Amino acid sequence: MNTISPQYKIDTLISEKKIKARISELGTEINSFYKDTSKLLVVGLLRGSFIFIADLVREFQIPVEIDFMTVSSYGNAMQSSNNVRILTDLNTDIKNVDVLLVEDIIDTGHTLNQVIKLLKNRNPNSLEVCCLLNKYSRRETPINSKWIGFDIPDEFVVGYGIDFAQDNRHLPYIGKVII
Ligand code: IMP
Ligand code: MG
Repeated sequence: MNTISPQYKIDTLISEKKIKARISELGTEINSFYKDTSKLLVVGLLRGSFIFIADLVREFQIPVEIDFMTVSSYGNAMQSSNNVRILTDLNTDIKNVDVLLVEDIIDTGHTLNQVIKLLKNRNPNSLEVCCLLNKYSRRETPINSKWIGFDIPDEFVVGYGIDFAQDNRHLPYIGKVII
């Protein structure tokens, strides 16, 4: 167990080595899925997906553009809601484009559900989802994510881009917070 802060501890849930190995597998699958695509646009949801995207796109041998958007749920900060607000929109027009939406965690599913609806309204040629972590037991809205890095239990996790009160994004592994 690593002591990061006097207020809480972080236990390793997924090691750096396991993350690397899984991303290499995902890269192979995604490359082959998009092998005939003239250009793929990877859309990352900030901030949690930034490290995952950085590692994932370096596995790609296909033409790829990368853009980001920031969304935020209304209401209680600890609970996702059905209203997602765009804080920073894409710079790219996604009409007729093959889009791969990349997210850090699917929890209740509300965030991705709303973002998928929003992006589909812009008429992309295709839209698939790749998510690093899936808290399947917490789902309230079904989400069709073609690629999932890891299914995880209902724990609050940090690291590899994911924060607790904005800290711990820099940890190279995924840990669970123990208060
Ligand atoms: P959903 O709308 O409930 O699916 O929430 C997804 C979002 O909640 C993710 O993009 C994360 O930002 C955040 N989230 C969910 N679980 C965790 C966690 O364990 N640690 C940090 N952020 C989380
Ligand atoms: Mg998020």
